[in-house]
Amino acid sequence: MLELSATLTELLERAKHAASHSYSPYSGYKVGSAVLTVDGQIFEACNVENASYSLSLCAERNAIFKAVSAGKRDFEAIAIYVDADEPFPPCGACRQVMAEFNPSITVVYANRSQTVKTDLAQLLPGAFCLKK
Ligand code: THU
Repeated sequence: MLELSATLTELLERAKHAASHSYSPYSGYKVGSAVLTVDGQIFEACNVENASYSLSLCAERNAIFKAVSAGKRDFEAIAIYVDADEPFPPCGACRQVMAEFNPSITVVYANRSQTVKTDLAQLLPGAFCLKK
């Protein structure tokens, strides 16, 4: 089994907690995410779906936007939890949003039975970035 640091274990627990608030009546996938700032703060959020499906927002982007809206832009790690049996790596749109703030952010994603630790340099090599 994968051993996570105490910090990443807490981050994943916070993602799991956020998943309990998921609004996902259409897909049924309860997703939660928690992002860790370099100064040790954690922002968590869930996926929020809509009857007009394309308006739905993933948990990871929701968590990052929440942090940015609170004045935080420097992120060290992000965790994603889905209450399902399928593997659930972050979608392409969320990877691109992560890359905006940290192209090598640590990424932990987990479902009911498996946890994976990786980083964005692996998940999105050659990311499109305009920031100097
Ligand atoms: N979802 C996320 O929250 N994060 C991802 O990275 C992939 C997909 C959500 C969107 C939708 O509410 C549900 O999972 C099924 O796609």
